[in-house]
Amino acid sequence: MLIIVNGYNSPLYAQDIKEKTVLCQGCHGVSGEGGIGPKLAGQEADKILSDLMGYKNGTKKGPQSSLMSSMVAALKEEDLQEFATFYSGQ
Ligand code: HEC
Repeated sequence: MLIIVNGYNSPLYAQDIKEKTVLCQGCHGVSGEGGIGPKLAGQEADKILSDLMGYKNGTKKGPQSSLMSSMVAALKEEDLQEFATFYSGQ
C-alpha cells in the first residue's frame, strides 16, 4: 500500500515506518487490525496521537494501559506522530 505521510511518499520512508511498527505488531497486528490491543487501522490520526500522548503523560488510563505506557515512554512525539499517520492510513 502506498503511504502518503505529510508529503513523504517514498517507498524508503514507508519501509522505515514499517520497520518501526514491528514494535506494535505483536499486540495490534501487522496492519493495526487488532489483537491483544485494540484495532488501530482506520482510526483518526489525531485520535491515535492524543491516545499515545495520553499514555506517555499518564492522562489516558485503561485496564491495560501499563502495557502502553512502558511502550511509549522511550518514544518521542515525532515517533508517535509517525505511528498515528501510519495506522490512520491502514
Ligand atoms: C504488549 C502489547 C502491546 C504493544 C507491544 C503495543 N500495544 Fe498499544 N495497546 C495495547 C493494549 C492492551 C491497549 C489497550 C490499553 C488500555 O487498557 O488502555 C493498547 C492501546 C493502544 C492505543 C489506544 C487505542 C484505543 O483505541 O484506545 C494506541 C493508539 C496504541 N495502543 C498504539 C500502539 C503503538 C503505536 C504501538 C507500537 C509503538 C503499540 N501500541 C504497542 C497493547 C500493546
